[in-house]
Formats: sequence, structure tokens, C-alpha cells
Amino acid sequence: MKKKKVVLAYSGGLDTSVAIKWLMKKGYEVVCYMGDVGQGEDLGKAKARALKIGASKCIVGDLKKEFVEDYVFMALKAGAMYQGKYNLATALSRPVIANAMVDIAKKEKADAVAHGCTGKGNDQVRFEVTFRLKAPYLKIIAPVREWELKTREEEIDYAKKHNIPIEQTKKKLYSIDRNLWGVSVEGGKLEDPWQEPQADTYTTIAKEEDAPSRVEYVEIMFEKGVPAGIDGKKYPAITLIKKLERLGAKHGIGRVDMVEDRLVGIKSREVYEAPASEILHAAHTSLEELVLDRETRRFKHIVSERYSELVYYGLWFTPLKGALDSFIENTQKGVSGRVKLKLYKGKVTVTGRKSPNSRYSVKLATYGKGDVFDQSLAKGFIDLWAMPYRR
Ligand code: ARG
Repeated sequence: MKKKKVVLAYSGGLDTSVAIKWLMKKGYEVVCYMGDVGQGEDLGKAKARALKIGASKCIVGDLKKEFVEDYVFMALKAGAMYQGKYNLATALSRPVIANAMVDIAKKEKADAVAHGCTGKGNDQVRFEVTFRLKAPYLKIIAPVREWELKTREEEIDYAKKHNIPIEQTKKKLYSIDRNLWGVSVEGGKLEDPWQEPQADTYTTIAKEEDAPSRVEYVEIMFEKGVPAGIDGKKYPAITLIKKLERLGAKHGIGRVDMVEDRLVGIKSREVYEAPASEILHAAHTSLEELVLDRETRRFKHIVSERYSELVYYGLWFTPLKGALDSFIENTQKGVSGRVKLKLYKGKVTVTGRKSPNSRYSVKLATYGKGDVFDQSLAKGFIDLWAMPYRR
């Protein structure tokens, strides 16, 4: 009988390294897949580790461009912030990776797909909903949810027993997930929501108190809602994000500390680092203020919230998400122009905005010379406005 084959989402960490062996012992040929979404780790080293453990193949897919252009910038245009604070960096990366895995599974004629998520988090949902929708015939295996290894120590023992090479770190302080759009840090000391994040949780961003005590300005150029340039110079998407990340991080910008509501019903304390995202969301929103009419803005606000939930809940490839995409794209047609921002000690402040599609009219708004607003119209308007409430 032909050996069954599984495609495993491999990160190079302890869980998924142990998972390779565990799946092999269950009788599977294991093909590892690593989707590069800008985690900035040495994927070559991880690949070598996978092969050493016994994976028959380890495929590295460069998903960075697709991730940024089709997922991250879509969420930016949507103004999607889960519970008003989380930019969804991790949540956005799961469907792009899962979708790529389905393609690999088809090519490899695999019988199953697997991931290293626990049964308590959101990531399992995001992976599995995508698998279900894209390739319902694939069996889904979640080793970490299924095996008997209860603690990290037990996993390390298992790794030692089976000659699985693991990183030399004695104790993992936090669970960290990094990609181009940001870093998610959870676990460890952060599990106490009263504990202030210490220096060891700052992965990229300077502390506010250590940031330069000198203001820096940056100007972002947008084309149809998509960031296209910095300080008058055009950059490809990935370069642009990396530049803003460095700039923002230097000024202590983009740190979020929150208690969020997971899909599986628990609250969890999360620390995020997303300097580029904070700058870009602030800039994008302020350009929309100038360009969108009042009612579209109001309605888009509702869409933003719903959209952020769909992304968080793993529903990227669903009809409602697709329909909302169309709405969002439609609103972005005129969102072109420039935004000026000031960066200082952990804070980003928009100081100016400009667009050829601006709806702002000085002639109507001014209290000075050249006012064309017909104030005599106001009386009738207010009479009618109050009409429904009069008795
Ligand atoms: N709470 C965030 C989310 O659900 C971040 C998850 C981070 N994942 C991780 N494996 N550390 O999107």
C-alpha cells in the first residue's frame, strides 16, 4: 500500500519539529511547507532541520509580495483593526500560508495537511477554515492538539529521545509570531495583565523614553488607497513597509498592549509591535477624511469593524468577505494624495493632507474672506431637521 502523505506547515520551532517525527510515526510521509511572509528568520537553517528530522521534502514559498499586496494592503484599505487595536498581522498571514499549502498538497497528491497550532488559539481556525473551503477532501491533522505531550519539557524530552535537533534556547520566554506587518507577542510574564511588558518583550521598537528627543517628519504618498511612496520617492510595497518599520521603531511607535477576545471564547493579553502599520493606518484614515463623502465614511466605519472580525475569525475566503472587498475597493478609487506626519516619542501625529480628489472646500469652510456658504439656508434646514420631533 502506498504511504500516506501530509503537507505540514513548518516553522522550524520546537512544536513543528516534533510534529514531523510524530507524523512519521503515524505512518505519514511528511512534506514540510514554509511560507515566507517576512518572519525574518533563517529559513534555510530551518529547512535543513526539517530534512534532518526526516521530512521527505521541505518547500519554501516566498509569499511576501502576495501577502503584502493582496492581504495586508487590503486590510489597510479596509481600515481593519480588531477590537480597535490589533492590526491583524498574524491573522492575515494564516490564510495566505494555508492557501499556498493547498496548492502544494494538490501538486504533491497529498492525503492530508497539518499545522502546529494549539487548540486554544485563533490560528488553528484560520488554517483549518481555509483548508476546508479550498480542499474539503484533505484530512486535517493538528498534532499539538492531539498528542500526549502536555508541556514544553515533555516536548523537549521527546525531541531528545528522537534525536530532533532543537535550538539551544533553554527557556522560551514568549510565543512570538513575526511577519512583515508586525510582531505578536504572548505568553510568559505577559499572561498577567497587570505586568508591564519588560525590555525582553521589545523585539524591534525603542521604548518611548529611549526614542530620540527630536521630531521627525515623514510624508506618505497614496494611490487609490495603496501606499506608494515616502517623501516624494516611490517604493515597492515591501521596501516601503520595511522603511517605515525602521523609522517608526526608532521613534518608539507602534506598540500595542491589549486584552483581546479570542474566537474560542477566552480573553488573552497580547503585545503587538507594528510601527509601519500604525503610521500607514493613521495616514490612510486621514486621507479618507479628506476624500470620502460623509455617508460613505460613516458606512465604511461599520464595514471596517465587520471586516476586522472576519479576518480575525479566519473567514478570509468567504462570500461576505469578498463582497466587502468590492465595497472597499470602490471607496478607494479617489483615495490618492499625500499625508504629512510627525513622529515623536511613541506618537504619530498627522499634520497635513492633500489630494486632487479632496472634498474639502475652503470657500465653504472659511470664516474669512471669500466665503460662499449661504447662511440663510441654514434656518430652513434646521426647521425641517427638527420637524420629526416636534409636537
Ligand atoms: N492573538 C493574535 C491572533 O490571534 C496573535 C496570535 C499569535 N500567534 C502565535 N502563534 N504567537 O491573531
